[in-house]
Amino acid sequence: MATTSMPRLTSTFLAVAAAALLAGAAAPAVDAAIVDGLQVGFYNRSCPAAEEAVRDVISSEIAMDRTIAAGLIRIFFHDCFITGCDASILLDETPSGDVPEKESSANGFTLHGLRSIDVAKSTVESMCPRTVSCADILAFAARDAAVAAGIPFYEVAAGRRDGTRSNMDDLPGNMPTPSHQVPRMTELFTKRGLTQEDLVVLSGAHSIGGAHCFMFSNRIYGFSQGADIDPALDPAFAANLRRVCPPPKQGDDPQQSPKVSFDGRTSEKLDSTYYTEVLAARGLMSSDDALIKDPQTKPTVDLFAGDDALWQQKFAEAMQKLGAVDVLVGEQQGQIRRECRLVNKQSRQPAPSVPRLKKPRFPRFMPGSGFHGFF
Ligand code: HEM
Repeated sequence: MATTSMPRLTSTFLAVAAAALLAGAAAPAVDAAIVDGLQVGFYNRSCPAAEEAVRDVISSEIAMDRTIAAGLIRIFFHDCFITGCDASILLDETPSGDVPEKESSANGFTLHGLRSIDVAKSTVESMCPRTVSCADILAFAARDAAVAAGIPFYEVAAGRRDGTRSNMDDLPGNMPTPSHQVPRMTELFTKRGLTQEDLVVLSGAHSIGGAHCFMFSNRIYGFSQGADIDPALDPAFAANLRRVCPPPKQGDDPQQSPKVSFDGRTSEKLDSTYYTEVLAARGLMSSDDALIKDPQTKPTVDLFAGDDALWQQKFAEAMQKLGAVDVLVGEQQGQIRRECRLVNKQSRQPAPSVPRLKKPRFPRFMPGSGFHGFF
């Protein structure tokens, strides 16, 4: 079990447990792990069945559609990376009238599994009204998805509150893109208190799910003046990709773009095959391939490729760490949303008198120019 192997969690746990022993108190271990104001067993008293209810919903959602596991893990990552794990990605609209994160071209229709979060929230809400935050439900759901895909169970410290703002303009400059190289991705991870190793570990989430052709078509059509296909790609793999993904042309609708599995071998299992595939020049996006091009990250890729159990353990720990990024905690911060898609009514601000124009979710594609970037 990966529960307490995260250093901060472990040291806090030990300190609290030692203090409890000295005081002669029998502190229940599950309540003792507090990190960044989050606590394992946070709902033990207020809504004891919450985690189990989320787990039941998520496992039946995944039983109906296995691809949801990947979607939930990605939603969690995209939420935590922008203004912290505050469920801001779930908002359909904002009190300020800002266009929410959900509408960004890095999110939009590529977010998968939002409905499962709605089901989990309404189930928990019917048991314990206004008690369990959407941010915690998302953290539980991402863990349950990871476990369903093969990661050993890990504890999720809870107590996150839900944010009241969400702005798609927060994504550019904060969210990694498929064309990023390691230095830029490392910089973005560092901004969130995560390390370069966390980048390599968490990128292993690309062991499940997939990417739409337009996310990597620049690698297989019109890559450069001298090479139509990215020479870093295994030629047989690239040829297969070209069979699935037609050449991009002007006016293409991104929503019609086919989706390709990251890891064609074990596409529903979170395992270290991602790393062996990347090493074999079968990383789908430039950002995946970047991990072996960079001498700083390549040794870690080699390590994980040869040690599935180690990577799974590290992944669980990194997900715990991701879940603590810039969280809102305590009564004074944020709120417990009644519906994950909306800020509670009483906290809503009047909408600005001049409504902002909605930007189109995705740019239309120009022939031969490949990936246009998200932003
Ligand atoms: C660090 C650089 C990263 C980049 C540039 C990146 C980019 C992308 C892109 C472009 C897709 C395809 C979306 C689509 O076409 O539908 C994707 C999918 C995915 N990403 Fe990442 N990602 C990164 C890191 C991560 C991390 C850290 C996680 C999780 C902790 C993650 C989890 C996933 C998952 C599970 C999918 C598959 C989603 C699905 O099939 O529904 N990614 N990513």
